[in-house]
Amino acid sequence: MTLPEGFASQVVRWQRSHGRSGLPWQATRDPYRVWLSEIMLQQTQVSVVLGYYDRFLQRYPDVSALAAAPLDDVLALWSGLGYYSRARNLHRCAQDVMARHGGAFPAASAQLQQLPGIGRSTAAAIAAFCFGERAAILDGNVKRVLARTLAFGDDLASPAAERALWQRATELLPEAADDMPAYTQGLMDLGATVCLVRQPSCLLCPVQTLCAARREDRPEAYPVRTRKLKRSSQSLWLLRAQADDGSVWLEKRPVPGVWAGLYCLPLFDSREALEAAVPAADRAALLDEAAFLHVLTHKDLHLHPVRAQFAADGWSRAEGGWFAPAQWPSLGLPTPVRRLLGA
Ligand code: ADE
Repeated sequence: MTLPEGFASQVVRWQRSHGRSGLPWQATRDPYRVWLSEIMLQQTQVSVVLGYYDRFLQRYPDVSALAAAPLDDVLALWSGLGYYSRARNLHRCAQDVMARHGGAFPAASAQLQQLPGIGRSTAAAIAAFCFGERAAILDGNVKRVLARTLAFGDDLASPAAERALWQRATELLPEAADDMPAYTQGLMDLGATVCLVRQPSCLLCPVQTLCAARREDRPEAYPVRTRKLKRSSQSLWLLRAQADDGSVWLEKRPVPGVWAGLYCLPLFDSREALEAAVPAADRAALLDEAAFLHVLTHKDLHLHPVRAQFAADGWSRAEGGWFAPAQWPSLGLPTPVRRLLGA
């Protein structure tokens, strides 16, 4: 496969004039700040990340502050961003940087990649942004940009094809370390704003004349990926046990599993199982609330809230407690539970 000549320089030039700029994590080469932004941006849009990013930095201005924080506080601050394994890894990563790297992030992508929650592409992004390392990124958006540019027709479900695309991505890198931040950001920006999954804006694209998929007039044919995400669905019953003073009963979710480590209403696989957790005398008073759908990455959750009212000390279960409304905002709660409680 011949590589399109001038690809990197076009991307760099376009990023500097048309790419996204002024984002708070672009104003720094501090690996802590860049790392934090890259983890938050992994599954979440820029517009959502902005608020969380500022709040996080206010609370944890450096890696030592984050490492010293209780995990529960980190999860609470992450609450609403989803994919909570990111927050757990973030915390472990900060502790590793303190314990094993003397409080400074390593400057090479190969070492960054050894840290919890930092994959190959994220490691490369941090190293490129902070240290100008010539390391290729290849997240979902960039796979699309490169697969189209190269008319890369191999099925990316195959590890060999994925390896081959990493190789191409590495060959396309600019020569100069100085160009690495703009190049890396430029690929991300192209994927997010121009080279869209459907109806890409090829006329606005800085590499339209180099793009093999455009020459074939079928950009949407790339990338090729046969494996479909296996989705499952699950029904869960949530016991919204409320005490006379307005407190609700919350329990910490086991790790691993749905909402691992977060505080949650007691969950049950069936209404019968929920009833079994309530004294017989109280079952008739259980009140079914409207069921609703909550979509996770791999799973549709059909959630069935059931309300129960108890005297303040009239009911309890192992491993949980009554939490007053004033405490809810500072807890890590799954988004549907937060909504349900109006917290
Ligand atoms: N997505 C992942 N990293 C990003 C970045 N640095 N800027 C914008 N979107 C991103």
